[in-house]
Amino acid sequence: MQEQLTALKHEALDKAEEAKSEQDIQAIRVAYLGKKGPITEVLRGMGKLSAEERPIIGALANEVRDEIKNKLDEKSKKLQEAAIKQQLEQESIDVTLPGRPALQGAIHPLTAVITEIEEIFLGLGFSIGEGPEIETDYYNFEAMNLPKDHPARDMQDSFYVTEDLLLRTQTSPVQARTMEKFAGKGPVKVVVPGKVFRRDDDDATHSHQFMQVEGLYVDKKVRMSDLKGVLETFAKQFFGQDRSIRLRPSFFPFTEPSVEVDVSCGICSGKGCRVCKQSGWIEVLGAGMVHPRVLEMSGFDANEYSGFAFGMGVERLAMLKYDIDDIRQFYANDLRFLMQFKDV
Ligand code: DAH
Repeated sequence: MQEQLTALKHEALDKAEEAKSEQDIQAIRVAYLGKKGPITEVLRGMGKLSAEERPIIGALANEVRDEIKNKLDEKSKKLQEAAIKQQLEQESIDVTLPGRPALQGAIHPLTAVITEIEEIFLGLGFSIGEGPEIETDYYNFEAMNLPKDHPARDMQDSFYVTEDLLLRTQTSPVQARTMEKFAGKGPVKVVVPGKVFRRDDDDATHSHQFMQVEGLYVDKKVRMSDLKGVLETFAKQFFGQDRSIRLRPSFFPFTEPSVEVDVSCGICSGKGCRVCKQSGWIEVLGAGMVHPRVLEMSGFDANEYSGFAFGMGVERLAMLKYDIDDIRQFYANDLRFLMQFKDV
């Protein structure tokens, strides 16, 4: 029986040594140490042994069992370590490789242009204002001297929310809102950037939604020459010192007199080319002296105060400055377009 046990031990230890995986280990463990294994079998047959033999065989069987068990545990540990080592070798990373740069975005050209316009007017003593995009009929039209049924309303076919509420068609209503806040006491000197909405067919130069910057300066003795000086300074700073402006008579219900402002063409320096349609000038904004009725409706005494106002289209200014030929580019979210403004 002793020999049998020793033979079993060697057999099990050899197999353990050759085990290649955790499954092999488990199979050997079951085969030799399991309830139905040969060692258990020997221990079970101990009853038949003589009193002298019993402790000797018992001790040996326990010893053999422990030895096999230890060997299997040890081998199992080695296999695990080898597996981890192999995994580490396979997954090794080369820390000397150059990193992959994260894609860096760019400021949207419209945001960049608005910021630039704001900075120029901040430099001229204006502050920045704002107003709601959903506006009442009163502020959008009536306070701007466009009473109900005024024909000029047709030019701004609109998105109505209710009969009295609409998406504002212009930033001009913020003129009235701002003047009301000043309660009849000037000076008021603001520029107001914001979105405006008109029911329009979208094409290369029209969009149902676009952006404007409104300007308003109300004080005692504000004159048309102040308007011209401010707009000329703006045009030179925005487009370049070599540019000049001209005023042409126009009509807006909220200004009197009203003007259309052109800037000299940057392509031909005013000589006339395809871009300016041979005129040497490009129209950039509308402006005028605030209509006395607009002043009065918003709480200013028109005998004491005067003012000028202007409104410019942000997309149009951006298109002229950066030679963009289609307004829809601003809203298409095409990275090939947007990334060109990375350094603007
Ligand atoms: N609100 C006008 C528009 O949307 C633009 C405008 C013209 C604003 C003349 C003004 C102004 O303040 O004086 O077409």
